[in-house]
This record gives sequence, structure tokens and C-alpha cells, in this order.
Amino acid sequence: MCGIVGYIGKGCAKDVVLDGLGKLEYRGYDSAGIALLDKGRLAVEKIAEIQDESNKSKISKLQDLLKEKYSDANVAIGHTRWATHGTPSVLNAHPHVSNDGMIAVVHNGIVENYSELKEMLLKKHNIRCKSETDSEVIAQLLSVFCADGLDLVDAMLKATGMMKGAYAIGAIYKNDENKIVGYRKDAPLIACHTDEGTFIASDMTALLKHSKDVYFLDDDELVVCKADSMQILNRNKEVVEKEIFHIDWNIETAEKGGYDHFMLKEIHDQPDVLEDTLSRRLDSNGRINLDGISLTLDDLNKIKKIYIVACGTAYHAGLVGKTLIEKWAKIPVEVDVASEFRYRDPLVDENTLFIAVTQSGETLDTLMALREAKKKGARVLSIVNVVGSSIARESDDVFYTWAGPEIAVASTKGYTTQLMCLYLIALYMGRLKETISAETEKKVLEELKSVPSKVSGLLKNEGKIEELAKKIYEKRSIFYIGRGLDANVALEGSLKLKEISYINSFAIAAGELKHGTIALMDEDTIVFALATQDELAEKMLSNIVEVSARDAYVVSITKEKNDFFKDASEMVLFIPECIDEVTPLLSIVLLQLIAYFVAKERGENIDMPRNLAKSVTVE
Ligand code: G6P
Repeated sequence: MCGIVGYIGKGCAKDVVLDGLGKLEYRGYDSAGIALLDKGRLAVEKIAEIQDESNKSKISKLQDLLKEKYSDANVAIGHTRWATHGTPSVLNAHPHVSNDGMIAVVHNGIVENYSELKEMLLKKHNIRCKSETDSEVIAQLLSVFCADGLDLVDAMLKATGMMKGAYAIGAIYKNDENKIVGYRKDAPLIACHTDEGTFIASDMTALLKHSKDVYFLDDDELVVCKADSMQILNRNKEVVEKEIFHIDWNIETAEKGGYDHFMLKEIHDQPDVLEDTLSRRLDSNGRINLDGISLTLDDLNKIKKIYIVACGTAYHAGLVGKTLIEKWAKIPVEVDVASEFRYRDPLVDENTLFIAVTQSGETLDTLMALREAKKKGARVLSIVNVVGSSIARESDDVFYTWAGPEIAVASTKGYTTQLMCLYLIALYMGRLKETISAETEKKVLEELKSVPSKVSGLLKNEGKIEELAKKIYEKRSIFYIGRGLDANVALEGSLKLKEISYINSFAIAAGELKHGTIALMDEDTIVFALATQDELAEKMLSNIVEVSARDAYVVSITKEKNDFFKDASEMVLFIPECIDEVTPLLSIVLLQLIAYFVAKERGENIDMPRNLAKSVTVE
């Protein structure tokens, strides 16, 4: 959601924290701020104005603001915000400082009982919070407890003992220039220590430059960061010996690498990352090896039902997964959005396999759904991109997507690598249960192996799609239709467009059009018609004819052999020949490019679309 960075050490804390915030800006970008301990002074600087003509990011403005200042400070915490409580303003931006000016705090997540705590602070201590945020109460509570004589560690334990909700916190205390204290509960916090000092962050892209060996705090753990040491403690103040996670990402993968936007770069990353996702799971005989996941035939025979649970783009990947698993492994699958799953008392028991799909591994709705399923006895397998993330650590088995860091808010390579994992899982289950033949497995694997080069080929359509974008970017509504797997991909294509272009876009199973939505078709409507499924091609053609008859402008997406779609559509984009099951991996690439170029034509902030955040760690 928001991003946190903290540093204490030999180096210039301002530079380290601002650099880290720059890497995290995609997590939240409506305001940013930094607090530093500088020769007995607690200094705080924040930026929150609306985007101006300079189009500079909040972090670069913060950098300008701090140019000549605080170069000697060795302790700092910083934050980049995605507003939840209170408007984006300097007052609501983090770090929040206690009224006595002693404590500064950065916070991700939500303090659910903040109103109660605010009232208590006012009644009992005559402390009135200044901002509209929930986070400020943390700074005020810490200052009350420090004023009572507690040190920052004890104050943090006492304050968090009174708080309800989800939070990652970084705090500094004016009277103790030797530490930063961090705390985690249901929101990610990572720490590492090097010769240069100790670092904390909400996301490892901020730390990659300093170390690839990091510690992930678990819930209700606290980290005491000093320049020459780091300790992770539990709530009883016992030192916790933790496993180091080595993060296999290089810093370049978190850079734009010459592209105008991270989104375009990540679309172009797809041939390589798909190759990687697949090849890591194939053994020397070319057969699927689930990378340490112990799913035996006995286990599979016990599974009566699978739930795939996720949010946003990952949910759309889950929809494709359902078709694949039901087709190849013959196990019934339900797909649910995580925020709904949790609250509807789903029928889950020890014969249920719960598959969580998530790029970040930190989406709170998905995490909570996972915990609910575990409580009811389900076995949990997660498909996750971020190594060591909360969902990865709480799952019985993890199938990493190996997409590398995904920075653009609109997920692209995250989605296609999730799909690739679902193909492999479905095929593996089918092979084990013998519900598919060895030939089918071999054939599908051959097709999957050809996907990376086919995706490279599809990227050559950029020029054509840019031209198309020029024609349609001012439209007010755009539809995506398809049948079978195409209906699932239509949802993802439509989401991509909505997220970054703000055009009202709608996806619907083509067969459903006639039950209402066709009433919206007129000469002002654009329809992207996905028609990649051989058995359904004729039915799709009828749907295309129906919407064309209502004057809609139809762009069809189909296989190269289906030349006849040209007569019924204004434009046709082709995907290379392949079996029907793998078309989602190809058609989505065209839809990603369409969303990208439409948003570009409209001059939108593609990598950081309004109101959205990359990782949503609130409910
Ligand atoms: C946010 C992002 C989406 C993403 C969804 C789920 O809404 O903006 O791009 O699909 O969260 O995220 P996850 O990290 O769980 O895949």
C-alpha cells in the first residue's frame, strides 16, 4: 500500500531513505515524507501537493527540498503514502510527529481502533491529534509512554498492545539517536544489516541496492535497528533467531531499462520470465517437477474440491486455472475473490485444497482468506511472486512465479507467470491422477515451450496497436467479449484498460450480451472480441455480427487461420496458431499493449494510476 524505509548507519541517512522511497513510490504516491535525527534535533519534511506541470514525482520534489540539508544525519525514516484515512495533504502525510516533538512514526496498514485511542489520548493525556489519519495515534502513544520513562522498545510494545488492526511501523525517538524501532503485524516489514548499517523497508526493492540477504519479520515481532547491530525480538523481548532469505533479484530488474514506463518494460519482460517460470519446473527428461511441492497421488485423491482465491488480476488468472484443473485433473474448482470468500462461511474442510494466487504475497484480503481456510483444515498451496512474503510463509506449499520485481501498478508479467504456474499445476495433477494421457501432457508442454517466442512475435504488433489507440483513446466506453477461456481473458483486458486509462470498460461473456448489455451498443462503442477458441469461433462470429449490426466498432482477436473474421470486423489482430488451452497466454499480450497505448495517448500516469496501489494491505 504505502512504502516505508528506515536507515541507521555510517552513511548519509537522507540519501539512503530517499533512494529507497524512490524505489517504492509505486506502492503509494499521493504524498511522501522523511524524519531525521540530526544533532539532537528531530527534523521532518513532507510533500503532498497535487501534480503540477513539472510532472515531477513526490520523491524528486522531496529530494529538491532536502538538497542542502541534513547531510550529516545518520538516522532517518521515510514514507510514501496511499491515502486511506484522510485526504492526501501535508498534514496527513507521514512521518507523524507527537505533539511534544519527541517521536516520529511511519506506518503502513490500519489502526482499526484509532478513534477510541484518539479519545483516550484526549481525555487522559490532553493530547489532541492534528491529522485525520489513524497513524498519528501511534506517535502520540509512543510519546506518552516515553515521557513516562519507557524506552522506545517498551513503549512500542505497550502501544502495539493497545492497537487493533494491521501495521508495519518504523519509529524514532529524539532522546535516543541510536536506534530505529520497527514492528510488524499483518503488514510486511523487512530488515537487513550490513557493514554500512541497518535498514528496514516494507518491500525489498528498496533494499536490493544494499543487500540481498534479508529478514522478514513475522507478526508481533519488533526489530531494534542500531548502526552496528540488529535484533529481532518477540513480544516477551526474547531474541528471535530467524532464517535469512536470499533474494535472487538484481537491481536492474527493478529499473526501467530504457523503456518509457515500467509497464511497457514488464510487458516486454514476458518472453524471458515465462521461459524462466517454465524451465525451472522441467526436469532433465522434460517432465514437470513441482519444485519441492510434495503433492502425492494420495494427497490428490483426498482432495474433493479446490478453491482458488485471489484479488484483481490474480483472480482473473484463477478463473483460467479453474478451467485447466477441471479439464485436466477432473477436480471441481471454485474461484472466489478473497474479500468475499472470507465472509461467506465457505464449505472448506481437510479435503479442500486452497490455492492462493498473488503477485505481492501481501494482499490482506487474500492473506485473511488463507488463514480462514487453514482454520477450517484446508491444505494451502500458494502461487506467489515475492519470495518470503507473508502468504508464501503461511502456506503449506509455495509455487513461485519467478517474474522478478513487478513495479507498474497494472500487473502484466505477474498475470502471465501466474497462468504459467496454473498450467503446470493442472497438468501435473492430471498426470498424477492419470486423467490425462502422457501424449496430452507432452503436447501441452510443447505448446507451453513455444509460448515465449510467440509472445516475442506478438510484441511486434506495437506499431499497429499504437495506431489503433490513436483512433479509440477518446471513447467513453469499451467492451471486451469472449467465450470460454476468452471470457476470462476479456475480464483481465478490460481491467488493464480501466486501471490506467480510466475509460469505462466492461467485460462480458459474449453469450450473455443478448440478455441485457447489447442495449448499450451504438456507433460510439468499441468492442474487443476475443475469438481464439476453435469450437466457439462460429458462435463468436455471430456475436460479432450482432454488435456490428448495432454500429459498434469491432476489433477481433483470433488465430491466424481465422482470416474470415476480417469481413465481420473493422480490424483483426492475430495470435499465432496454438491449442485452445494456451491462448490466454498470447491474447492477453495484445490486450496489455492496447491498454498501454490508449493510456499513453491520453497522457495518463501509466505506472502510477490514480487511486490505485500495487499492493493492497488493507481490507
Ligand atoms: C491490487 C493491484 C492489482 C493486483 C491486486 C492483487 O489491486 O493494483 O494489480 O492484481 O492488488 O494483488 P496481488 O499482489 O495479491 O496479486
